[in-house]
Amino acid sequence: MKLRTKITILTTAIVIIVGFLTTISVRGVIINAFREELEKKAKSVAGNLSERVANFILLGDYFQTTQALNEVLNKEKDLEYVFVTDGEGKIFAHTFNGGVPVGILSWNPLKNKIVNVQLLDTEKGFIRDAGVSIFPNTKSELHLGIREDSLKSTLITMRNITVPIIISMIFLGAIASFFISRLITEPLNKFVEFTDVLGRGEFGKRLEIHSRDEIGQLSHSFNRLSMELRAAKENMKEAYTYTHLLQAEKLSSIGQISAGLAHELKNPVTTLKMLFQAFKEQPDMTKEDAEVIHNEIEKIDNILTKFLGFVKQKDVNASDININSLIERVLSLATFDLKNKRIAVHKDMLETLPAIKGNESLFEHVFLNLILNSIDAMPYGGEIRISGKTDDNFAEVMIWDKGCGIPLKIKSKVFDPFFTTKANGTGLGLSIAYNIVKAHGGKLFFDSNEGVGTVFTVRLPKEVKNG
Ligand SMILES: Nc1ncnc2c1ncn2[C@@H]1O[C@H](COP(=O)(O)OP(=O)(O)OP(=O)(O)O)[C@@H](O)[C@H]1O
Ligand SMILES: [Mg+2]
Repeated sequence: MKLRTKITILTTAIVIIVGFLTTISVRGVIINAFREELEKKAKSVAGNLSERVANFILLGDYFQTTQALNEVLNKEKDLEYVFVTDGEGKIFAHTFNGGVPVGILSWNPLKNKIVNVQLLDTEKGFIRDAGVSIFPNTKSELHLGIREDSLKSTLITMRNITVPIIISMIFLGAIASFFISRLITEPLNKFVEFTDVLGRGEFGKRLEIHSRDEIGQLSHSFNRLSMELRAAKENMKEAYTYTHLLQAEKLSSIGQISAGLAHELKNPVTTLKMLFQAFKEQPDMTKEDAEVIHNEIEKIDNILTKFLGFVKQKDVNASDININSLIERVLSLATFDLKNKRIAVHKDMLETLPAIKGNESLFEHVFLNLILNSIDAMPYGGEIRISGKTDDNFAEVMIWDKGCGIPLKIKSKVFDPFFTTKANGTGLGLSIAYNIVKAHGGKLFFDSNEGVGTVFTVRLPKEVKNG
């Protein structure tokens, strides 16, 4: 059940219970007040009448007594009966039409009291019998019975007034609780949606709730959390890049590079050695042999060219570079591959980037390698987006692709010299690019999701520190 429904049901139930209890207690107060009033009236009417008929009884005037009793009976509309007893306690006169009810004298015995009121439960409903002694110390008494007719009609009137009031209270209460529950649940729903947003890793977004109550405080805390998560994510990224920096530093020590280089050259050189060994014994060379030799020499050349770029990367001949036209040039170098693999290229905001000081051919190498890597990541076509961004101190070029992505387990290796997952790769592309960007005082880092794509960012300072 939704929270909103629960709140509506709960508040409606409270309204109903409060309405019910109020009605019951008001009804009780009315009944008590009415009965007190009735008792007073009964005592007063009985007292007056007893004074009036005292003489008639003394004189034994049955006629006058009965007349007086009937007069009062007709005048007071709630009166059911009146009767008087003589000094010996026998019925002297009464107003009963169908004869005196059996046992009437035992209904409300005075037992030496001057006045007594007794509630009788009769066939005609509750009747209050008020008895007064006419002559003290004798058995002569006057009794009158008062019905609760007017109490009944008062209660009916009360019911007619209160029932519609209670129904409208319940109705208004239900409507009010519906809106109140909305006030509570709406921000809660926003919180739930927001936790989904955070769950998706979209940190840095804000909840737009501006109340000054606890909900407002909570949304403030959520927004702080979102900002802190973003900062933490960025710090992690930095740390990740920093780890690479250290690693690349470590690996760029000449011993390791040489070991890698020797390892890379070993295969083509061994092939060549074996071929030449064979020529010594049988000097006729076939077309296939020539092709193998050519390919192996290409491989060696490729490795050495890149390696030389790697070693020479400190010689930065700085000039002003227009990044937009540099990217244009690099794209034209890759036109064949782009067309062949049906890859669309979109450029975004590159014109807004300021000119960067640096060695143009080295940067050509950086961007060409990044674009070729993106192309390699999308063998069945796709899209590359190259976007620019700038702030006070830095200019950034981002190369996004929707390719295979870099699996988690090789993320820490891609900048290593000679690390490659490609059959014909040298694994020098990124490590050379990394060192070139670093030599210009910038940073090269990436973000990648396996199966979704990769973005490499080249971040360069506007003021270049050479070397
Ligand atoms: N955009 C990318 N998408 C997926 N994987 C990538 C991407 N860029 C680099 N890689 C991974 O990083 C590895 C190293 O890249 P690097 O450019 O250093 O070498 P390479 O491309 O394999 O070889 P070469 O640059 O000599 O052609 C690649 O083999 C590939 O596995
Ligand atoms: Mg490469």
